[in-house]
Amino acid sequence: MEPIVTASRAEIEELQLERLKQTLQRAYTKVPYYGKAFDAVGVHPSDLTSLQDISKFPFTKKSDLRDNYPFGMIATPLDKVVRIHASSGTTGKPTVVAYTKSDIENWARLVARSIEIAGGTRHDIVQVSYGYGLFTGGLGAHYGAEALGCAVIPMSGGQTEKQVAMIQDLKPTIIMVTPSYMLTILDEMTRQGIDTKRLSLRIGIFGAEPWASAIKAEIRDRTSMIGVDIYGLSEIMGPGVASESGATLDGPIIWEDHFYPEIIDPISGEVLTEGEEGELVITTLTKEALPMVRYRTRDLTRLLPPTSTSMRRMSQVQGRSDDMLIIRGVNVFPTQIEDLIAKVPTLAPHYLLVVDKKGPLDTLEVQVEIRGNADDNEERSKAQQELSHHIKSMLGVSATVSVLAPFTIERTAVGKAKRILDRRPK
Ligand code: DLL
Repeated sequence: MEPIVTASRAEIEELQLERLKQTLQRAYTKVPYYGKAFDAVGVHPSDLTSLQDISKFPFTKKSDLRDNYPFGMIATPLDKVVRIHASSGTTGKPTVVAYTKSDIENWARLVARSIEIAGGTRHDIVQVSYGYGLFTGGLGAHYGAEALGCAVIPMSGGQTEKQVAMIQDLKPTIIMVTPSYMLTILDEMTRQGIDTKRLSLRIGIFGAEPWASAIKAEIRDRTSMIGVDIYGLSEIMGPGVASESGATLDGPIIWEDHFYPEIIDPISGEVLTEGEEGELVITTLTKEALPMVRYRTRDLTRLLPPTSTSMRRMSQVQGRSDDMLIIRGVNVFPTQIEDLIAKVPTLAPHYLLVVDKKGPLDTLEVQVEIRGNADDNEERSKAQQELSHHIKSMLGVSATVSVLAPFTIERTAVGKAKRILDRRPK
């Protein structure tokens, strides 16, 4: 592991301050958007003399990237750019992100570090089952595993039977995949009669979507893998902005030599103190092509003190503020429902939340699969009552629970699991 990971806090903060100054300078002078945004609130890069001064600077939002589509936020000439990724927007244009050679090298180094902190070494064989393409998951994981010296199987998402064949034949020791797709792979193995407790895989590096306790418990019960949580987003880099230690399993460690994190109140924008839950805001410290100043991730989490390294951790992301449902005035996150599903052992962690409107009221239907025999009506109705009760008593909303037969809820083989179907008229 590089020495900076275990350096003193003073050394890390000194490096952060120096890099923060460079980022602000680069953004202000090279990106007209930032020049205008800083001038509009009367701040100048020279106003930053301590890390806390970052709070004087304006936030950057996803819509700012969109408004400057495709290359308006890029701080280098385009011929210095060696890679472009894009994240699919649910509405309108995708968000385009770009990298110089040095950005790609840093990214690979951070993913390598993430694999290493999970417990991986150059002797591992890594199956990358994140999608390759415009999504940052596949190529981000790939270059990182190669940088560590691992043998990489660039499987990408999809082709579940082939995924299983590769695992059986090539015996990878690490898999990098979304947690929901890991379950699909395990289901296929079970279907083929493979003992999922005795796989070659020893570490799973799971990310790109919230990993609530139901899926976590399922993977723990069905395999003998250590599962770690890797976090990232394309606007900031891609996978590997933060990643969890396989030894302590206590939340993703933010790679603070490359990213400066803050937690804010999502409504007032006030910076919160360490330990308080709010929205994660990140300023990049080394990005050349796309420096990001106080980017609002929309992800809700907390900053936690360092444990196994000298860098701070974040708590598992509960969800995105965009994913929050408001059901008759009560805020509900899909991950909260998922946690409650985990309390009912006869239910599988495959679910869809259907939100609709009946008259003036929002309604919530939780569709979830039973594990065992779908014809056992007594078991189904027991599971249904149990989950409705948990939802009412823990979240304070009434939901209709529909217990469905196994494999009736659509699986996502590529990309992130879709948990919400919003049928409310726009
Ligand atoms: O999902 C990058 C990535 C790929 C991360 C592979 C980890 C593994 P985007 O497509 O831009 O990038 O989506 C970013 O996904 O803001 C979170 O809401 C969510 N997300 C990513 N990692 C996690 C995680 C990639 N470990 C958005 N836990 C982020 C919860 C996550 N949510």
